[in-house]
Amino acid sequence: MEEIRHPKDSHTILTDLVLPGETNPLNNLFGGELLARMDRAAGISAGRHSRRIVVTASVNHVAFNRSILLGSVVTIEAKVSRAFNTSMEVILDVWTEDRQTGLKTKANEAIYTFVAVDETGSPVRIPKLTPETELEKQRYDAALRRKQLSLVLAGKMKPNDATELKALFTS
Ligand SMILES: CC(C)(COP(=O)(O)OP(=O)(O)OC[C@H]1O[C@@H](n2cnc3c(N)ncnc32)[C@H](O)[C@@H]1OP(=O)(O)O)[C@@H](O)C(=O)NCCC(=O)NCCS
Repeated sequence: MEEIRHPKDSHTILTDLVLPGETNPLNNLFGGELLARMDRAAGISAGRHSRRIVVTASVNHVAFNRSILLGSVVTIEAKVSRAFNTSMEVILDVWTEDRQTGLKTKANEAIYTFVAVDETGSPVRIPKLTPETELEKQRYDAALRRKQLSLVLAGKMKPNDATELKALFTS
């Protein structure tokens, strides 16, 4: 019987500090440093879903909405939002934590695509994912459109074949 997993099975939380070597002249976290941390969290999450070696196939979306100050505690939360055949979408939410109150503020978000591969680097099939919460269901539904957009932009899919994506503009 085919194995089914849920987003909570891949839930990953990465908490770390922002140190001086990781900031720009404004004392804010470098975008590239955050991308690397998100890549690590997303990779762990994709590995938890697939129980395979995973590689980053694409970074589909990143929004640096708020800068993150030197000394901040940064928490990155990652979950697989949809599993396709060999690829999976991982959604990341980034939070900063107030030192005194402990209150968390959403700073950034991102969406990565990972592919599960064997020891030779060839893509392998992964378990299906069933969303449970309302938010997980919304993210699951939208993931197919995002995959099609990513493939079209990468020149790996003809715009005419991106049926679900096209429906967004025609309905
Ligand atoms: C990612 C990689 C394994 C894909 O290999 P490939 O030969 O293109 O394989 P396929 O065409 O069969 O694609 C595999 C899956 O990835 C998906 N995919 C490939 N490129 C994608 C993109 N730009 N956006 C979204 N999905 C993509 C395909 O749709 C397919 O998904 P599915 O099987 O779930 O339907 C290969 O390109 C690779 O190894 N890249 C380097 C990865 C790496 O080193 N990352 C670290 C960055 S330095």
